[in-house]
Amino acid sequence: MTAIADKGDEAIAAALPDVDGYVTGIAYPRRYYRELNPAAIAFAAQQCGYPAPRLDQPFRYLDLGCAHGYGPTLFAALFPQGQFLGVDVNPEHIASAERLRAEAGIDNVVFHATSFAKMVADTTAPKADCDFIVMHGVMSWVSDAVQRDIAILIERRLKPGGILYVSYNCQPGWAAKMPIRELLVDAYHLSSGTTVEERLSQALAFLRRLAESGVQYISANPSLTPLLEMLEGQEAGYLAHEFLNRHWTVFYHRDMAARMKATGLDYLGSANAADNIRLLAVPEKPTALMDAIPDLVMRETMRDMTLNRQFRRDLYGRALTALPLTSYVAALKTTRFVLARPRLDCNLTVKRSFGDVALDAAIFNPLLDRLAAGSAGFDELSAVPPLIDWGIADQNQAIQVLVGAEFARPIVAGAGVMPDSEAVQRFNQAATKAALEAGRNDVTLAVPTLSDARVVSLKPAVPTSD
Ligand SMILES: C[S@@+](CC[C@H](N)C(=O)[O-])C[C@H]1O[C@@H](n2cnc3c(N)ncnc32)[C@H](O)[C@@H]1O
Repeated sequence: MTAIADKGDEAIAAALPDVDGYVTGIAYPRRYYRELNPAAIAFAAQQCGYPAPRLDQPFRYLDLGCAHGYGPTLFAALFPQGQFLGVDVNPEHIASAERLRAEAGIDNVVFHATSFAKMVADTTAPKADCDFIVMHGVMSWVSDAVQRDIAILIERRLKPGGILYVSYNCQPGWAAKMPIRELLVDAYHLSSGTTVEERLSQALAFLRRLAESGVQYISANPSLTPLLEMLEGQEAGYLAHEFLNRHWTVFYHRDMAARMKATGLDYLGSANAADNIRLLAVPEKPTALMDAIPDLVMRETMRDMTLNRQFRRDLYGRALTALPLTSYVAALKTTRFVLARPRLDCNLTVKRSFGDVALDAAIFNPLLDRLAAGSAGFDELSAVPPLIDWGIADQNQAIQVLVGAEFARPIVAGAGVMPDSEAVQRFNQAATKAALEAGRNDVTLAVPTLSDARVVSLKPAVPTSD
């Protein structure tokens, strides 16, 4: 085994090709993230009291680092009034995105194989043209120079009134785990394997031996055991993109908020609906402590400490002012709610990272029964006892909890294509064909009635004996 210090940049690059320090030698897995749905972003912004770009009018959505473009293509099928654009530096990713798009015949999404640096250099590109810009799994994994390019693109292309989604690795959740990433990288480069998969498997075997040998770093940090188990269950493509990029920055929320402020954007809230709902966001005791902190950024940092969070999904807005109460209520009243899962699967114990939250059956069962009978607007749900006797703030809280618990899906104005949408049918056929060809056991399909997607098993049903 050669010492890592003896390995030059060329040997390291040969062990895993990259562009500007970002891995290109192996593809990222094809995945769907519900939080990137423009309707989910619009609803989360509304939850936080901000106006969102209207979905009942044409809108433009840009995905920076879109990988296989699964989300943008699925969203393009669900939102024919939107124009979607996905860019990625890895031509293999974009070729895969384009294959699915062409097979599904979706013409309101376009993919470009290009780098953020080239986009910055292209001065002919449109300005202030995007209502939504999303960037999932990018910021923590690229160099400072690429982060600066991204800032320029956001500044140039996000419209006033537009919303940015950015996810990133954060502290304090990574504090104890960061040396694992360092060890994984070193073990990867020192390994004798000839493929990315072989090298990763040898590096993981080294970590396992280390854990079993009783080193104090592992025994002193109980969070490492589940991390090591999680790593062993992951695809090589995921591991390479998560851990083997040359750059790996774990941010504090305040640093990301400051960067975005410098780009002219203000923090709105979380892209995850449950995080914006008091009952589901944090346990009761720290909530009281947090309420006493006037500084909103510090309050968010406290929240990360409370939950020992390691990954954040933030929303930022350009030139957005909080809605006056009347407009907030008006926006709420144009949203419809649909049951997101079978009524029988709505268990009133909601699992959160900090423990179980028990919902009051006297409040939530009648609401769930109402939704089981069909979609309902805010006024229809607030007419259900006991909500009918409550003020609007409490009614709103209860309805928000239905969404945060993932019992109900909000359909904001302009979302929700017809169930027989041909674009959705073509997307679902193409996605199923691609999943079967790839030998997958399931596929994520677009569901027009939810304005979202659902995972469907592709395993043949096992016949019963009679
Ligand atoms: C971890 S993947 C996330 C992909 C996708 N957003 C998702 O969530 O499935 C990050 C993506 O950013 C792309 N990327 C990294 N650096 C880039 C750059 N400088 N220019 C354009 N794309 C880049 C990578 O090729 C990769 O597909």
